[in-house]
Amino acid sequence: MSATWHDVAAEAAFPAEGKLALRLRGWHVLVLRADDGTYRAVNDRCTHQAALLSPGRVRRGAVMCPLHGARFDVLTGKCLGGAYPNLRTFPVRVEAGQIAVEVPDAPPGPGEMPVV
Ligand code: FES
Repeated sequence: MSATWHDVAAEAAFPAEGKLALRLRGWHVLVLRADDGTYRAVNDRCTHQAALLSPGRVRRGAVMCPLHGARFDVLTGKCLGGAYPNLRTFPVRVEAGQIAVEVPDAPPGPGEMPVV
């Protein structure tokens, strides 16, 4: 499956709350800054009932789903406690202060889209 890198933000302009939600080729992408200062990107879709994660809080290395409170590790996308599947993650790179995310060129299927 082909995929393409997309510039998403300058590190210096990344939101202070540690998260940035955007659409890339139809994907709902949530870029997160981990406690160690690195960046991760996940599909902005809770694996429980497909809520958008981006309105949720990012605290202590996890993003919390605003609908029922599932928590997912920012670094790995792993569901803490294991109640639900892990989040889909996307590769992230930072070059010369520019954050980029690689997403598939094919648009997400219905099972990968959040309920918005
Ligand atoms: S939809 Fe996220 S915990 Fe239920």
